[in-house]
Parts: sequence; C-alpha cells; structure tokens
Amino acid sequence: MVEVSPSIISSDLSHLADEVLKCEEAGAGSFHLDVMDGHFVNNITMGPDLIRSIRKSTDLRLDAHLMIDRPDKYYKSFIDAGADVLLIHYESPVNTMELIKRLEHDNIRYGIVINPETEFEKVKVFLDNAEILLIMSVNPGFSGQKFIGDSLIKVSEAREFIKRNNLKARIEIDGGINDETGKLAVNAGADILVSASFIFKNGIYNPIKKLRDL
Ligand code: DX5
Ligand code: ZN
Repeated sequence: MVEVSPSIISSDLSHLADEVLKCEEAGAGSFHLDVMDGHFVNNITMGPDLIRSIRKSTDLRLDAHLMIDRPDKYYKSFIDAGADVLLIHYESPVNTMELIKRLEHDNIRYGIVINPETEFEKVKVFLDNAEILLIMSVNPGFSGQKFIGDSLIKVSEAREFIKRNNLKARIEIDGGINDETGKLAVNAGADILVSASFIFKNGIYNPIKKLRDL
C-alpha cells in the first residue's frame, strides 16, 4: 500500500494533537515536517520545538524536510527533538557527502532531496545508504503550488536505478499531490506521497484514504 505522509505545517496548529490523531486514524504512515529557515527558501516555518510537540503526539515516523542553508550546523537539534529521518537537500550549500558521512557516523537515518531543476543523475552517488529519495514536484517554500509534471520522469528514472542496483531507498514525492497527481506518481514508481493542502483542506480522513488506496 502507498504510504501517506501528511505535511503538518498545513494542519490546524492550534489543535495539533487532534490533527495528528485524525491523520493516524485515517491511516497516515508517517509525518512530514517542513522546516524552512528564510534563507534556503523564502519562507519561515517550524524549528525543533514544534517537532518536540509533535513527537509527544505520535509514535509514527517523523521525517524532517530540512529546507535550510546549514543542515550541517543544526541537524542534531532535529534529532534531539524527536525526528527519525532527516531529509537533506542536495542543493543546500554544504558538502553533501561530508554531511552524509557525519550522519552515518552518528547513526542518523536520512534521505536525499532534489528540487525540480536538479537532475536525478546528480544524487545517484548519495543513495547507497539513504532510506528515502525525495523528489520535489514543486519548488520548495510554500504549500498549495501546482504539481510539476516533469518530476514524474525523474520518479521513473529513480525507480529503475534503485531496482537495478538493489538499493533500499524508497521514493517519495512532495508538492501538489492530490488523488490525480498522486496516482500518476504511484504509477511512475513512488512509494511515499507527501501532501499538505489536499489533506488539510479536505477534512483529513477522506483524502488520506484516497491517497492510500491509489
Ligand atoms: C513545499 C513543502 C511541501 C508542501 C506540500 O516546500 O516541502 O511539503 O508543504 O504542500 P502541498 O501538498 O500543498 O503542495
Ligand atoms: Zn516538504
């Protein structure tokens, strides 16, 4: 079954624990935490403290999507707050291989993220021990944007590469996902669907069910 990972930033944060519970009841498989620092993207969202609150409300896996300039400087604080997997952008202005080595040394689970303009080719070298390859289907920064169809080509390419090389990385897609675009992504080979507006603007339960059943 497809794993659905609701992006918590679009939930009703004044009722965070309830929103998390509703997602669990609908069958969410993990939670997606969009961390933005106002430098890497033109928006500011949550930091470790909010993640700590979410951690208290769920045992599901928490993926921290780090849209920040200095993941090398801050990664530990997200783990300490309770994140399980760190999603690291290839485009962050740090040495990706060095950062990965540090994460592996510290036994921290991670995934690699690529923006719409980044070719899949660029990140093949980082996938040996990655748990997730996150393919962005919008330019990061805001929820509610339109799905970029070309990202599906990358999903197929990645599916093929992961299969051929017997890698464990699961393919995740993030941005503009609803029941239609989600179906296209699953058909192209995606394992995990991130969604914010589609889920939280449509009452949580039905949209999560629809995405799971794709
Ligand atoms: C975009 C974030 C996404 C976003 C998804 O920068 O990484 O996770 O919240 O929002 P929707 O599903 O509304 O496109
Ligand atoms: Zn995200």
